[in-house]
Amino acid sequence: MFHFPDGFLWGASTAAHQIEGNNVASDFWAIEHAEGSVLPERSGDACDSYHRWREDLALLRAAGLNSYRFSIEWSRIEPARGEISRAQLAHYRAMIDGCLEVGVAPIVTLHHFTSPQWFAAAGGWLAPDAVDTFARFVETACAVLDDVEWVCTFNEPNMLAMLTALLGGGSEPVELVAGALPPPDPTIGDALIEAHHRARGILRERTQARVGWTIANQNFQAEPGAEAVAEEWGWSREDRFIDAAADDDFIGVQAYTRVRIGREGALPIPPGAATTLTGWEYFPAAVGLAARHTARRLPDTPIMVTENGIATGDDEERIRYTAGALSSLADAIGDGVDVRGYLHWSLLDNYEWGSYGPTFGLVAVDRESFERRPKPSLSWLGQVARQNGFARDDAGRQADIK
Ligand code: BGC
Repeated sequence: MFHFPDGFLWGASTAAHQIEGNNVASDFWAIEHAEGSVLPERSGDACDSYHRWREDLALLRAAGLNSYRFSIEWSRIEPARGEISRAQLAHYRAMIDGCLEVGVAPIVTLHHFTSPQWFAAAGGWLAPDAVDTFARFVETACAVLDDVEWVCTFNEPNMLAMLTALLGGGSEPVELVAGALPPPDPTIGDALIEAHHRARGILRERTQARVGWTIANQNFQAEPGAEAVAEEWGWSREDRFIDAAADDDFIGVQAYTRVRIGREGALPIPPGAATTLTGWEYFPAAVGLAARHTARRLPDTPIMVTENGIATGDDEERIRYTAGALSSLADAIGDGVDVRGYLHWSLLDNYEWGSYGPTFGLVAVDRESFERRPKPSLSWLGQVARQNGFARDDAGRQADIK
């Protein structure tokens, strides 16, 4: 039996735009509805979790999980520049209270990919006052965060800077590279790093929170002879964002797969390799390797796994993947990596940024009635949480939950 450290957080993660529904003032909503949009599906009602969050929290709690990561939606709180909705702030405060009342630690993300439309229209992260504007939002949000222990400023700033470029908001032309997204727009990257540091200062002044941000860890693996290419590849896409967390209270590790790097850059997934519904290589060791990589760069910063999971229609495969992932994480912890929690992506089958196809959830959601149907993987993970550990076979690569 491998035991995780005392006080380990076990939970699931979500993001406002992917589950709430009708985030009509967000920039992504506008992208979904733009003429000729490249996105196959719109978010619409999503999981209607804006109204059903109590039910979602109850499912998570009943399974045995002790933490819930969710994001607050800037475009709801500030639908027009400078106009703050007290009712929306109260909504998120109610969610935080709802968690605390049932003994679930709320882990709150302030920005999970979406911004208000007015912010995007004014130039987004490239606008000269972008950091000040975000800092004012953070000050506003502090009103409901005073007793929240864990706050993530940005979700995956590295991915955000890539997506913004991809979706046409960047300062540089976008060139798609085999098997990987284009590099983050460096100017947007700079703005996000500055915004994160400003937000961290504000949160430390006004709340009790431990502050960090969460990074998309892509496990760039160099083929022989491509070490220098991989190093450079990883710097702009990932490592500079990890290093920017050097003075944070924790860093969020988010890992799903790996990307092999050859002399010319990212290599396609090898023919015959198992893939998931997102087309990524099935690679359960991703999270353990990502935690090790992060700890090598930031040896003194505690790690929280803020996302890890698999898009699959086969829940047995989800359990197998997660068991492998936890095994790799246990190995990293065994080797001294300071990991404080594991939050599975995702609680619900949700809107996967353009499509409802890739199902990452521990809970299925009926697209019309919004009925929640917990999958076996939810009780499986809940059982691991209750035991704060799991039994492993001799190879240590597969978990066997009793
Ligand atoms: C994001 C999530 C997303 C997940 C799976 C992460 O990059 O934070 O919003 O749904 O990966 O693609």
